[in-house]
Amino acid sequence: MIKVGLIGLGRTGSSVASGLLSNPEMSLVMALARPGSAKVGKDLGDILGTKPTGLIVKGSNRLDSELLQTNPDVIVDFTNPEAGLKNLRIVALHGIPIIIGTTGFNHEQLQSIQLMAQQFKTTVVYAPNLSLGINVLLNLVLKAAEFLADWDVEIIETHHRHKKDAPSGTALKIARELGAYLDLPEDHIAFGHERTAPRKNNTIGVHAIRGGGVTGIHQVVFLSENEKLEIKHESHNRANFVDCLFRVIKWIISARPGYYTVEEALGLSPSPHHHPKPEHFQIVG
Ligand SMILES: NC(=O)c1ccc[n+]([C@@H]2O[C@H](COP(=O)([O-])OP(=O)(O)OC[C@H]3O[C@@H](n4cnc5c(N)ncnc54)[C@H](OP(=O)(O)O)[C@@H]3O)[C@@H](O)[C@H]2O)c1
Repeated sequence: MIKVGLIGLGRTGSSVASGLLSNPEMSLVMALARPGSAKVGKDLGDILGTKPTGLIVKGSNRLDSELLQTNPDVIVDFTNPEAGLKNLRIVALHGIPIIIGTTGFNHEQLQSIQLMAQQFKTTVVYAPNLSLGINVLLNLVLKAAEFLADWDVEIIETHHRHKKDAPSGTALKIARELGAYLDLPEDHIAFGHERTAPRKNNTIGVHAIRGGGVTGIHQVVFLSENEKLEIKHESHNRANFVDCLFRVIKWIISARPGYYTVEEALGLSPSPHHHPKPEHFQIVG
């Protein structure tokens, strides 16, 4: 049974908590909310709208003592960048592996995360893109680009009408990784259709569609004069990241200390530090 500690009980943290409570291989041993939040002191079940769980929510100002008391195998953070960094420092001091699902870190903050993983010799997976399907799509897209480097590439993403940013972070990530892989110039991303000239070479078109209640669709289209290849991912619900998170949780507990991406944790790109955890430790003598 993997003992998991969770920090952040917002929309995402709550989905993760529900998933953990129904996962027979994992046990949720710690659930922390913002200090001063109305959630502190309540049974986790009250917050999730389920039957009592026996797990009382604490404030994250008690992270240090909670780690000592509950002894989790792994910590998962879904808070905000400021809180996430603060939590990471404390968790790293305890040498406990941590998965940072929180997004929105600036460049300096991301560097601090990597530095802390090194300094404290702890295992950190920075996981802003917890979707198994999207990570596999990215892998397949790079594989296709290997063979279709001279074809045109366009990325089309569709999301519900309430989404504030366009294009999606995922579409941009695909365009950037593809651009780097194909050695395209810095300004290779062409947004939308606004053109007065034919399509240029060495560009990747990115298009955003907004409407209705679509959870999220990403299509990457490769086009030659005679053929079209399309790689498409569709999210059916917003909880798809929980499945991916569980894979990363199982992976991280046997990873060597270091900083990792989700792709590495999912085995989609090589991770030099990983080694299988022995099933049993035998103390001899
Ligand atoms: N990796 C992925 O694939 C993925 C997927 C979805 C979301 N996310 C990211 O996960 C993060 C959370 O998303 P969300 O949708 O759950 O946002 P949210 O609903 O706003 O939840 C954030 C939670 O963090 C709590 N919090 C703030 N400071 C805290 C602290 N010091 N200690 C403990 N908890 C604290 C907030 O409490 P109060 O409400 O009381 O302030 C809130 O409950 C965001 O960065 C989001 O972008 C990542």
